[in-house]
Amino acid sequence: MPRILVILAHPDLAQSRVAKAVMVAAQAAAQAPTQAEAADDGVELLDLYARYPDYLIDGPAERQRLAQVRLLVWVHPFHWYAMPPLMKLWLDQVLSFGWAYGPGGDALRGRDLWLVTSTGGPQDSYHPAGYNRYAFDAFLPPYEQTATLVGMRFLPPLVLYGAHRASDAEIADHATEFALRLRQYPHWPELDRLANYPDCAACAVPGDARPVALDV
Ligand SMILES: Cc1cc2nc3c(=O)[nH]c(=O)nc-3n(C[C@H](O)[C@H](O)[C@H](O)COP(=O)(O)O)c2cc1C
Repeated sequence: MPRILVILAHPDLAQSRVAKAVMVAAQAAAQAPTQAEAADDGVELLDLYARYPDYLIDGPAERQRLAQVRLLVWVHPFHWYAMPPLMKLWLDQVLSFGWAYGPGGDALRGRDLWLVTSTGGPQDSYHPAGYNRYAFDAFLPPYEQTATLVGMRFLPPLVLYGAHRASDAEIADHATEFALRLRQYPHWPELDRLANYPDCAACAVPGDARPVALDV
């Protein structure tokens, strides 16, 4: 199993049903013996709210953690049509200019990004006639473009809709599907049909896109 980093961002994990079940499945995957091709292979879990209760994210340490990661997984509940704040702060602090994008910023190029999330709204609410008015995919361009800008491939998300009313069995199925995917990565049938990694010649951020720091 290639190196996988699962980042959980749940502001209130004690109240969670879905993310908690997903993380239990991830823990089992992390502990399972693998046919490791290299000593570095396997699954690492990072519970972002537990690791950074003060919101003081250690950017250099987190960039180091990503060094050998081939699949980056973001596990979080969908909050206000987006990611919880500490997940967003992780992006702000970790995906730095000259490392993740811009000149020399190719540290994540050729890796995969997978979103595993859940919504309170049932699937039919994510429809022009539903109370969320848009298909769920309409909320994903910020994720997809973030991945593209840093040269990552955005894999089809795993979504559990209608979390509030989901039965224990539905949540267990979701966690099982998640664990199966982890074990099978990168041998997912749909990956063959996905476009290859983004061509960053078309989306490279030029070196003069940011103001030059003034010497004072
Ligand atoms: C602050 C907050 C914002 C939320 N925003 C949304 C939303 O935009 N769309 C939606 O479908 N559900 C929304 N929900 C419901 C969560 O997605 C739902 O509680 C979560 O998926 C359940 O997962 P868990 O069991 O891991 O907590 C929101 C919940 C909270 C607490």
